[in-house]
Amino acid sequence: MSELVLVVDFGGQYNQLIARRVRENHVYTEIVSYTKALDAIREKKPVGLILTGGPNSVYLPDSPTIDKSIFEFGIPVLGICYGAQLMSHLLGGRVAHAPEREYGKTEVHVDTASALFQNVSETTVCWMSHNDYIAEPAPGFTVCAHTDNCPVAAAQDVSRGLYLVQFHPEVLHTQEGSKMLSNFVYNVCGCKGDWKMDSFVETSVRALRERIGSGRVLCALSGGVDSSVAAVLLSRAVGKQLTCVFVDHGLLRKDEGDEVEAVFGPNGAYDLNFIRVNAQQRFYDKLAGVEEPEKKRKIIGEEFIRVFEEEAKKFGAVDFLVQGTIYPDVVESGLGGESAVIKSHHNVGGLPDCVDFKEIVEPLRDLFKDEVRAAGRELGIPEVLVSRQPFPGPGLAVRIVGEVTPEKVKMVQEADAIYREEIAKAGADKGLGQYFAALTNMRSVGVMGDERTYDYAVALRAVLTTDFMTAESAQLPWDVLATVTSRIVNEVPHVNRVLYDCTGKPPATIEFE
Ligand code: XMP
Repeated sequence: MSELVLVVDFGGQYNQLIARRVRENHVYTEIVSYTKALDAIREKKPVGLILTGGPNSVYLPDSPTIDKSIFEFGIPVLGICYGAQLMSHLLGGRVAHAPEREYGKTEVHVDTASALFQNVSETTVCWMSHNDYIAEPAPGFTVCAHTDNCPVAAAQDVSRGLYLVQFHPEVLHTQEGSKMLSNFVYNVCGCKGDWKMDSFVETSVRALRERIGSGRVLCALSGGVDSSVAAVLLSRAVGKQLTCVFVDHGLLRKDEGDEVEAVFGPNGAYDLNFIRVNAQQRFYDKLAGVEEPEKKRKIIGEEFIRVFEEEAKKFGAVDFLVQGTIYPDVVESGLGGESAVIKSHHNVGGLPDCVDFKEIVEPLRDLFKDEVRAAGRELGIPEVLVSRQPFPGPGLAVRIVGEVTPEKVKMVQEADAIYREEIAKAGADKGLGQYFAALTNMRSVGVMGDERTYDYAVALRAVLTTDFMTAESAQLPWDVLATVTSRIVNEVPHVNRVLYDCTGKPPATIEFE
């Protein structure tokens, strides 16, 4: 088992980032709610703890807190923002409402003699976001960083291994934040850094073999990054005991079904017992006349399960069902946030209950998306598949506003293929989080040759995002957009207008439905 740093979640928005940034140093992390932290420490024996930020004020009665004994285990602790304030508050310091709120990039003066700031510049730009501040550090602590407005931007009690920073080292705006986190795990916690992708793959293969024995395994393969990596990992572990079912629901991008088959099918490089089910018409029939986005999602999810079940029944009972769950799906917020359902994001509408299986295998449940990609590369999966942009489970159905028809699917497929091709040709895809064409439900008047047309408008979208929860519209080069527009209106029948979506998220979402 790798050495572990436990990230104790107090409900901050960057908590997954903290865990990721630490993992970039080859140190394994897990996130645990503050309510379960003490049990997790006893059970998992971490070599370091990081207390995260959070939206509350430590001195208010119902704010999240933790038993003080956490500081007496002899395990080094780094408190970040709320975590820093909580640590100070619990250990006898004073936290108060700051006379001046600090928000944004801020110059911080650090004491480079601190283990936390080794090789960090004396004045360094950090990301601040706080209303409260540490007015007086707790007894035993010395201040090792300050800003013009914040007397305690960082403090330490070296003898107890306790460190705190008011700013956020995990966000990229903190220019030397990665170095600080690396200093914490290596200089303070004494980590060796043994969490590497090759060892993840090797360890997982061994563990899967042991768990599965001679059992039969079934996997729903979509061709997306997660299910592809999960399938290849399983295949590496148990070979012919694995069967992969790929349901082509007719809502994939142009030629995607064939591309998936080429890589994973019988003529590809893997031995996955690959079964392709061409269920396009079934999905089109179910979707006929349906306009409401959530209804479309539900129909697709349910139909997917039906198709998968029918296929699975053909080979009877299996022992294990593979799910491509990844870590962000698993982590709960420390505060159990009750956010409103904007869209039901499940690829499939739950688990197939008619498939007879004993256990679920989730080989990627400890990995972040970029780590899943790294595992995919380690397994030799082609780069085009590994670095794919996200594609929603309901596919093009959420990129066709209103009713889905086979004709509309074809239109959006063609327009999207042209868009992606031209973006690739121009090398304009660098840094884009996601980009695609959608078909609006709007028809408008145009003129082609000497004829009046009354046809559809395609919308192009490209967004910059890392977390897909917020996004900005990307400023694509005008000449690329011009080429794409001209090709789409010329090559895709029944499209006479191309629009570019300039909206960010919020208020729009990335997909159109
Ligand atoms: P939105 O549109 O909510 O999308 O801004 C955020 C991210 O989620 C993807 N997405 C989905 N993924 N099933 C999925 O598996 C869905 O129904 C679904 N809807 C949106 C979207 O592509 C983006 O990456």
